[in-house]
Amino acid sequence: MASTDILTPQDWTEVVSPPSEIADGVAAFVPDTAGQPLSTGQLADLSQAVAEREELWRPMVVADPDRRRYRLLYEDDRVDVWVIMWMPGQGTGYHDHAISGVGVCGAEGMAIEKQMVLPEGHSEVEVRPGVRREGPAGYIHSVAHGEGTPAITIHSYSPPLMEVGQYRVDEQGILRREIEHGRRELLDNSIAEFAPDIV
Ligand SMILES: [Fe+2]
Repeated sequence: MASTDILTPQDWTEVVSPPSEIADGVAAFVPDTAGQPLSTGQLADLSQAVAEREELWRPMVVADPDRRRYRLLYEDDRVDVWVIMWMPGQGTGYHDHAISGVGVCGAEGMAIEKQMVLPEGHSEVEVRPGVRREGPAGYIHSVAHGEGTPAITIHSYSPPLMEVGQYRVDEQGILRREIEHGRRELLDNSIAEFAPDIV
């Protein structure tokens, strides 16, 4: 299947138009940073505060076995907050978040976060409810389903996630970084096919 077939856009109205009661509820936990980007600690705090308040993400949950789903909970010019649903077999592949810092917190079930550790393979963290992960610009990771149908995680990015770098391997085994829009579904199996010990 061609990658363009895999990456058919979602219904963007559904993805990026949170109900006002959801956005207003999340806004209460967004710190005042005088217009500056949030720190990674603030992003993790924000994701955890949202994860702990089920009413802010449960109404947005979609369990879709065919594709990974993510929906916007809040955005302003400093930060955007997403709920991501992971079904069995779904994962991002290795990617970075360009200039954005990231803070993640588990909400339900378990997702598996990995970071490439050369030459041996990868680190592995089970992102369960209350488990936080954070990283500045340049942070490279992959996230995939672990347990639950769906596993649910909350992700905050600052500045808002407008660009990501997806890591792919070509037929010669050469790793390259491909720029994708931050709101496009990340999906890559090329590293897994070429180097299964790393993913
Ligand atoms: Fe990520």
